[in-house]
Amino acid sequence: MANVSVIGTGTWGTTLAILLHENGHHVVAWSAIPEEVKMLSEQRKHESLPGVHIPEGIQFTENLEEACKEKELIVMAVPSIFTRVTSKKIAGFIPAGQLIVNVAKGIEEDTLMTLSEQIEQEIPQANVAVLSGPSHAEEVSKGMPTTCVAGAKTMEMAETVQNFFMAPTFRVYTSLDVLGIELGGSLKNVIALAAGIADGLGCGDNAKAALITRGIVEIARLGCEMGGKFETFCGLSGIGDLIVTCASMHSRNRRAGILIGKGYTMQEAMDEVHMVVEGVYSAKAALKLGEKYHVTLPIIQEVNEVLFHNRSAREAVFDLMLRERTTESFSLHLNK
Ligand SMILES: NC(=O)c1ccc[n+]([C@@H]2O[C@H](COP(=O)([O-])OP(=O)(O)OC[C@H]3O[C@@H](n4cnc5c(N)ncnc54)[C@H](O)[C@@H]3O)[C@@H](O)[C@H]2O)c1
Repeated sequence: MANVSVIGTGTWGTTLAILLHENGHHVVAWSAIPEEVKMLSEQRKHESLPGVHIPEGIQFTENLEEACKEKELIVMAVPSIFTRVTSKKIAGFIPAGQLIVNVAKGIEEDTLMTLSEQIEQEIPQANVAVLSGPSHAEEVSKGMPTTCVAGAKTMEMAETVQNFFMAPTFRVYTSLDVLGIELGGSLKNVIALAAGIADGLGCGDNAKAALITRGIVEIARLGCEMGGKFETFCGLSGIGDLIVTCASMHSRNRRAGILIGKGYTMQEAMDEVHMVVEGVYSAKAALKLGEKYHVTLPIIQEVNEVLFHNRSAREAVFDLMLRERTTESFSLHLNK
């Protein structure tokens, strides 16, 4: 039994706290919101995880020192817009060599840094790993079979993360491609917005399949150019996560996209979904990365047009369908 902490008690942090507790670890979970700590401690349920009981053994706290002190593993589970600020807050409590596994997904718009890069910048003494894959909390928390990939700079570290999380209903693979894993996990949210928009417009299943297929081409071209491995984009954190995010009603990015496709503005859609819609933040960053690495990203570009430049969703579909004709290839150098 190890002492572990989960930083962030959203749906994913809470689900992973339960999983780690069930794996026999002593779990402390931290939230930035005192009312949330009170509610989770007293009621033993999360409002976004109906029917899921939070075991008594999990301790909740708003005290960061308590959450970070003498832990064999720290899970960083705050939504990506809070990753840097939370890392800054905990940095002073983290000893050299501390293992931190980031489970959030996103890219910082100003710096274009992945989340593990941000954590490493704020907490240089830590060893940062990632865990990602097609894993909606709503299903994991009910013990439904799920697979993920643990990525780290060394196989030893990736296997340590694997050992913490692996369970009969939660299978964890290992990888050394941290960058590829993080890029797949964050860029798929932008494609999920596109898939939702297409659903909202009533485009049908053919369009959905096209967006998933051409979406992974965009993600892989950009990701490989940045140094990610092609095979990672064909794996759980790449096409796997993209499929589930584009197909599932658990995906807040897809749900927001559906509303936009039905005529809501971006802000109206975000308000209605009531949760952080990370694809909206990653969309601008993805476009900037495309410019930086000279990779053409037609779907991501149209999502940006719809979100930030008042292009109608219907026009965006026509733009994509009427692009210059091309051949089907993953080749980066084709870049169309
Ligand atoms: N939900 C899932 O199924 C799932 C699965 C895999 C990965 N993820 C990723 O995990 C991350 C967290 O997702 P989630 O679904 O738990 O998000 P969420 O929307 O449920 O998170 C909301 C939580 O954020 C925290 N928070 C709010 N304000 C904060 C602040 N100022 N500082 C720090 N924390 C604050 C609070 O604990 C709040 O409950 C995201 O990056 C998401 O992409 C989610």
